[in-house]
Amino acid sequence: MSTVIYWFSGSGNSYHVAKALQESLEDVELVPVAQAVKGGIQLSSKTGLVFPVYAWGPPVIVSKFIEKLPSDKSDYLFAVATCGGAPGSTMAITRKMLKRRGLDLSASFTVKMVGNYPPMGGAPAEEEQLKVNDTAEGKITEIVSRIDNNACGDFGKKSFIFSLMGPMAYHFFTRALSKQKSSKFYADDKCTSCDICAKICPVDNVEMADGKPTWGNRCEQCFACFHWCPQESVQYGRKTLEQVRYHHPGTLLKDMLNRQEIE
Ligand SMILES: Cc1cc2nc3c(=O)[nH]c(=O)nc-3n(C[C@H](O)[C@H](O)[C@H](O)COP(=O)(O)O)c2cc1C
Repeated sequence: MSTVIYWFSGSGNSYHVAKALQESLEDVELVPVAQAVKGGIQLSSKTGLVFPVYAWGPPVIVSKFIEKLPSDKSDYLFAVATCGGAPGSTMAITRKMLKRRGLDLSASFTVKMVGNYPPMGGAPAEEEQLKVNDTAEGKITEIVSRIDNNACGDFGKKSFIFSLMGPMAYHFFTRALSKQKSSKFYADDKCTSCDICAKICPVDNVEMADGKPTWGNRCEQCFACFHWCPQESVQYGRKTLEQVRYHHPGTLLKDMLNRQEIE
C-alpha cells in the first residue's frame, strides 16, 4: 500500500513525526502542505496529514489544504497533530472540515511535544525539552504501529472542557490572522543577512530589503523564522529577547528548506 503524507511544521516537531512514519512504513512520500496547496493534491491508498496544533485547532494553511482535497476516496486517511499539551478541539475541527469535503478520517492522533509559541512563553529550557521529546518518542512509536496496522478511531487526547472552548479560541485566532495588517516580527542587530528566515517561511511572508528581513501580512504564525534563525536575531515584540529558541533535534534545516524545494 503506497502512502503519501502531507506535513506542515514550524519548529520541526511535526516534520519529525512525518519522517518517523516514512522510515517505518513502506513506500512513503512526504509532501509539504505549503507546496501542495499551491499545486495538485492527490490522495493515495493511505494518506496522512501531520501538523501542529494552533489555538486548539489546525493551522489555517492546513484548513486551506483540506478545502482543496479531491473528494476521491483514500482507503485509510489519518491525521497526527503535535502539540504542547493541549490539543483542544483540533481533531474534531479537522474531522468536520474533512467531512465537508466528503472524506472520513479513519484515525486521528495527538502527541505532546515541545511547545514553541513565543507569546505563551515559548519553549522550555533544554533539559525539559529533552524530557518531553524523550517521552514523545514512545508515543510516536505507538502511533506508527497503529497506522501500520490501519487501526481506526480517535486515539488523541480528549477533554470535555477543551472540546467546548476550543472552537471559540480557534475562531478568534483565525480571525486575527485573517485581519493582520502589520507584523510584530523584526530582526535585531545580530542579523547577518543570511536570509534563512526568508527561505524557511512556508508562505513567502519574509522578504529581504537592503540586506534585512521584513515581514508582510501573510504570516501563519509557525515561528519557523524565529526558531531557526542561527543568530537568534528574529524577535516577536518585546518579550522574546531572552526567550529560548527551539527546533526538534532530529529535524535538520535542510529538511525544513526542502519543503520549498530550496537547496
Ligand atoms: C501559533 C501557535 C499556537 C499554538 N497553540 C497551541 C495550542 O493551542 N495547544 C498546544 O498544546 N500547543 C500549541 N502550540 C504549540 C505547538 O502546537 C507545538 O509546539 C507543536 O508541536 C509545534 O510543531 P512544529 O514544530 O511542527 O511546528 C502552538 C504553537 C503555535 C506556534
